[in-house]
This record gives sequence, structure tokens and C-alpha cells, in this order.
Amino acid sequence: MQALDSTSFTLPGQQSFYRGKVRDVYRFDGFMVAVASDRISAFDVVLPRAIPHKGAVLNGVAAAFLDSTRHLVPNWLQATPDPQVSVGLLADPFPVEMVVRGYLVGHAWRTYQSGKRILCGVALPDGLRENDPLPAPIITPTTKAHEGHDEDISRAEILARGLVSEAHYTVLERYALTLFAEGQRQAAERGLILADTKYEFGLHQGQILLIDEVHTPDSSRYFYAEGYAERQAQAQPQRQLSKEFVRQWLLEEGFSGQAGQTVPQMDDARVLGISARYIELYEQVLGKPFVAPDPDLPPAERIERALQAYLAHRNPMHLSDV
Ligand SMILES: Nc1ncnc2c1ncn2[C@@H]1O[C@H](COP(=O)(O)OP(=O)(O)OP(=O)(O)O)[C@@H](O)[C@H]1O
Ligand SMILES: [Mg+2]
Repeated sequence: MQALDSTSFTLPGQQSFYRGKVRDVYRFDGFMVAVASDRISAFDVVLPRAIPHKGAVLNGVAAAFLDSTRHLVPNWLQATPDPQVSVGLLADPFPVEMVVRGYLVGHAWRTYQSGKRILCGVALPDGLRENDPLPAPIITPTTKAHEGHDEDISRAEILARGLVSEAHYTVLERYALTLFAEGQRQAAERGLILADTKYEFGLHQGQILLIDEVHTPDSSRYFYAEGYAERQAQAQPQRQLSKEFVRQWLLEEGFSGQAGQTVPQMDDARVLGISARYIELYEQVLGKPFVAPDPDLPPAERIERALQAYLAHRNPMHLSDV
């Protein structure tokens, strides 16, 4: 099985290239091409081996949610010319990530457990346990760090530092909560609970757009609804559908993304195990079978062909189109 580690295409009209931890981003005049590679990151570090099908899983889940929430919040996505590629409007990203939490899990739980009752300026009640629902979904924004770890920040500080204007931030809050409610509704239809997630937004020609990926296992945590209440009542761990199992394994190996630690080796069995989990995530979250892209072509070649064909068709149109 082949995995796509990275791409370095030269595409007609391409103006710049940016390699994120997971995506290779090609920027054009007013639009961008995001290739979801098979790279996997955890604790803000890219792991040593790429995971077959991970890019297609992520791109497929994100595209499905972008399409099914477009009537609520305008977003960047215009086309998916290949299972691992999204094309859409190039935005100027706001320098914050809008994290929405409906349940006390992960970083929020660790902060709460340490005794804090204020998270990003939001007060939390006493007496909550790990994975409990919050009284209502809350927004706990983070800065978008160019390097290293994103950091918690409050609404007040975002406004005081002028990172986002109040008029824009109020819309981001409304959009984030609207999307989260819809994400929870759709998750419930699949027997899942959307516990938390993060959204990114940007400006395109003065309009606020939802950008990046949405409700994917890399940006969200899901619990299985069946047995959730029983497990909470017995203080048992919840069954999670997210990248958390990769973080768990890394922690067991003594890696948590801190400087000086070494990333553990990944053998074939580990890589294939993670791949299988991602495919399971796709099928559970979308409620349909995962169809692997054409296995006869190396992924980079397949993607480049699809992009060349797409761009040949798009370019003449796009000036009137954007
Ligand atoms: N429509 C868009 N317009 C502009 N930028 C976008 C858009 N959609 C996504 N992005 C940006 O493209 C990048 C996607 O790459 P990726 O998800 O691999 O990055 P990341 O690892 O999350 O973040 P970093 O950029 O810090 O490495 C992100 O920086 C994201 O903010
Ligand atoms: Mg990202």
C-alpha cells in the first residue's frame, strides 16, 4: 500500500507553495489547492511515517461536512478533483482557532483537573468529571502559532490585542456555535456524540468564510453514544473516535511533543493499524463505506493528473467566477 508523504508540483498559474503539517497548499490568484497528504501529526509534530489512506479519509470527511453545512455558514470549498484534494477560495485567515467544547475532555479536562475553573475566560462549574457534558457548549479560542504550540486565549484578550475586531469576532462566535450544533445533530444520526472541535475562519473579499477542515477526526473528538451514560455512571473511559489513540500510544512511549524527546519508531503493523482506524472513523462518521482511490497509480501521479485536468478547465473561467 502506498502512502503520500509530500508533493512538489509545478502547476499552471501557481503563485506560492506552503507545506503545513498535514496539507500541501498551492496558492493561486484568489483560490488555493490543498493536497491532504498522508502525513500524520500529533502534539504538533509530524510523525516519521505516512499513513496509507489517511489523506483521503480526512479530505473526504471535511468535504462532506463543508457541503452539508454550507447553507448555515459560507465556506471556502469549491471542488474536490481528487479524493485527496480540495480546491477553494483563498482567504486571509484570522489568527485564532475557534475551539468549541460540548464535553469536558482532553486539554480542557487536564486544565480543570489541575484546579482551574476558568478556561479561556469562561467559568466552569464545580463537580464535573472527565467526559461530562458542559452546561452548554463553550468557545475556548487558541492563538494560531506559526511555530510550536497554539496557546489558550480569552475573548477579552483577542479583542484587547486587536487580533480580530469585535464585529468580526461576534460573527465567528455565532458561526462556530451554529456549526457545532449542526455537527452534534449530524453525529447523533450516526450514533456518535461530537464532544469538541475547532474551526478556522478567514476573510475573502470582505466576506467571512469557514476555511480548512471541519469535523474531521484530526480536528474533533467523537464519543460513541451507545453506552456513553453507563460508562459515565461507572466512571469508565469513553470510547473515542478521534486521533486520540495515536496520542495515547505516543504518551505510553514517553513522547508528548516536548523539546528533547524523540518520536518513537513506527513499524509496518503500527502504520497499518492506524490506517485501519482512520478508515473506521470515516465509515462511522459518514455512515458509508470508504472507497480507496485508484491503487494502480502512485498517489502523487494520480493527484497531479487530476489537478492538471481540473486547472485546465477552471483557469479560463475563474476571473468571472470568483
Ligand atoms: N481557504 C483557505 N485560505 C487560506 N488558508 C487556508 C484555507 N484553508 C486552510 N488554510 C490554511 O492552510 C493550512 C493547512 O495546512 P495544515 O492543516 O497542514 O496546517 P497545520 O499543520 O494545521 O497548521 P500550520 O499551518 O501551522 O502547519 C493551514 O495553515 C490553514 O490555516
Ligand atoms: Mg490544520
